[in-house]
Amino acid sequence: MKNSFFWKLLSLFIALFFLCCAGLVILTLSFSTIQTSQSLKLEAESKKDLEGAITKNPEKQWMRQLEMGAQFDGVLKNNTPSEISKWKVIIEIPPKSYIDSSWNGEYTVTDHQIQILPPSDYNQIIPPNGSITFGFILYSQPSFQADDVTVEYYITKKVTELTGFRILYYSAIILLIVIFVYLIFMFKLRSLQKKHEYDRQFIEQTLKLFANTIEAKDVYTRGHSVRVSIYAKEIAKRLGLPEEEQMNIYYISLLHDIGKIGIKDSILTKPGRLDSDEYAIMKSHVIKSGEILSDFVSLPGASEIVRHHHERYDGNGYPDQLKGNFIPLFSRIICIADSFDAMTSDRCYRKQLTKEEVIVELKKNSGTQFDPQLVPIMLDMLECGVAPVELQN
Ligand SMILES: [Fe+2]
Repeated sequence: MKNSFFWKLLSLFIALFFLCCAGLVILTLSFSTIQTSQSLKLEAESKKDLEGAITKNPEKQWMRQLEMGAQFDGVLKNNTPSEISKWKVIIEIPPKSYIDSSWNGEYTVTDHQIQILPPSDYNQIIPPNGSITFGFILYSQPSFQADDVTVEYYITKKVTELTGFRILYYSAIILLIVIFVYLIFMFKLRSLQKKHEYDRQFIEQTLKLFANTIEAKDVYTRGHSVRVSIYAKEIAKRLGLPEEEQMNIYYISLLHDIGKIGIKDSILTKPGRLDSDEYAIMKSHVIKSGEILSDFVSLPGASEIVRHHHERYDGNGYPDQLKGNFIPLFSRIICIADSFDAMTSDRCYRKQLTKEEVIVELKKNSGTQFDPQLVPIMLDMLECGVAPVELQN
């Protein structure tokens, strides 16, 4: 029954693992994108990287009334090993100047400035150590030489190594993702734990309900199955069995006498000794218990275990006279826990035994009725207080 919780937990781990992997992939892709889009804006003083030159073509100049028309040829030379993009050329011009025609750029003329941007379909990028040209015909005052040129641009630099800042930046992102995933994980884990605890209580209460239903017929055996379960679980714990096994024997013990549901009340609650026929009917409860639990596969081996809980270690028990270690371990545990509770409880046919009498009985039947390796454990439990309180004094 704990298996479902384990598998849910494992599924959650696997889901988180893939989530983390997906996060790392996304982070890696983002990292690459950031690398290639890392830009550096430089102003006119960095003309060493991008040289902008405009010259008035001496062969293409003419006068129109008082204005001089001239062709200005421009070149932008990229002196870096990186691409240059988003370039812009600004040229200071005299008032009332105007452009007659232009090429290789998008031109905007204001009262004192020409701004040239890359055309929308080409010359956007100036290749590493390459150049582009542009030009225009401007009418202006005859003395204008286009000396005052400003060039703005971006250099696309590929980042080849992480700086301290970037390491902190990416570490912070990864840390945030880890915290986020951890919080989700803890939230899911708590939900699973709550659900698991609810399931566990539901199962236990349901099984106790069955046990109580069986024992409701006989006032003397009320609480018997729960006590046997507690003792059996404690024995399993002291044998070093894993917690899952301890819980399994606890649940199976709750149902060990479920076959008594088919036994007549007159036999179950008979104050005196049973005759041989009645005893045979009473013994059949182990077979009925096994049959009832044969389809209850959620508790592994439950059917076989309850069938053999009245076998004796010496082979004189019932129903199959199994002997020694041929009797399932859980059956041997339930057998001694069952007998121990019978000894320490009032029954319709006798009073409970004293502590000393219980000790004598356990020792006397070690190796005959009981598994000898379990008797010292049961005696120790009696000394340690697992037994009923009134027996301790
Ligand atoms: Fe029994």
